[in-house]
Amino acid sequence: MTAHQKAHALQLRKGSRPIAALTAYDYPSARLLDDSGVDLLLVGDSLGMVVLGFPDTTHVTLAHMLHHVAAVARAQPRALIVGDLPIHTYDTPAQALATARSLVAAGAEAVKLEGGIRQAEKIRAITQAGIPVMGHLGMLPQRVLEEGGYHKKGKTPAQIEAIREGAEAIIDAGVFAIVFESIVPETARLLSNSISVPTIGIGCGLRNCDGEIAVLTDLLGSYPWFVPPFAKPEADVATVTRDAVARYVARVTAC
Ligand code: KIV
Repeated sequence: MTAHQKAHALQLRKGSRPIAALTAYDYPSARLLDDSGVDLLLVGDSLGMVVLGFPDTTHVTLAHMLHHVAAVARAQPRALIVGDLPIHTYDTPAQALATARSLVAAGAEAVKLEGGIRQAEKIRAITQAGIPVMGHLGMLPQRVLEEGGYHKKGKTPAQIEAIREGAEAIIDAGVFAIVFESIVPETARLLSNSISVPTIGIGCGLRNCDGEIAVLTDLLGSYPWFVPPFAKPEADVATVTRDAVARYVARVTAC
């Protein structure tokens, strides 16, 4: 399937089968996730935190993203590969398009960027060039410094309206789906039921959106130093790793 066919097939899932998405940052995890039936692999700029050890995603560069997108693309997954546009690589429509093109050249099949009305013209520039775009509304991690932390969104009528207007603007600009991050459950459900493209939730409560996305390390329990309150780990890879390495060390150093 082409990138467009994959994105379109996901768009058509609204109202029928929920979308299961995960972040992936390298070749082996992309292969394993694809084997397990994930629909969409996001090479998210969360890699700045959970792979590169930065305090937040504002340190991620395009060079970081290209490196990890290329690794994921080498796995040739059936799932749609979406690459994040890092902060300050989409300040104008022309820059957004150039960044999107370089992510596609590295192997991304679609791109994602954060924000609503302010980003609509940038999204339009990318979709008109034939590259599928996924939006991202609610809590926007690239604004963590301006906002002084990670805060829940969609609590007040004004916030709900702002998210709705943002969604309508970016849908008009051509997004095939929208990530909803840390939007209060009732608002996420209300908006998901009233917009025309699938919403993919994280931190919005289960089943309030048309799909779910999780950061892989939250799901696997492999980044124990920061676990968001909404994370639902399915494994404890940190403990498995420490125990296996301790056994190795003991075996090697035994006299
Ligand atoms: O970068 C990322 O991993 C993301 C998800 C949290 C949706 O944007």
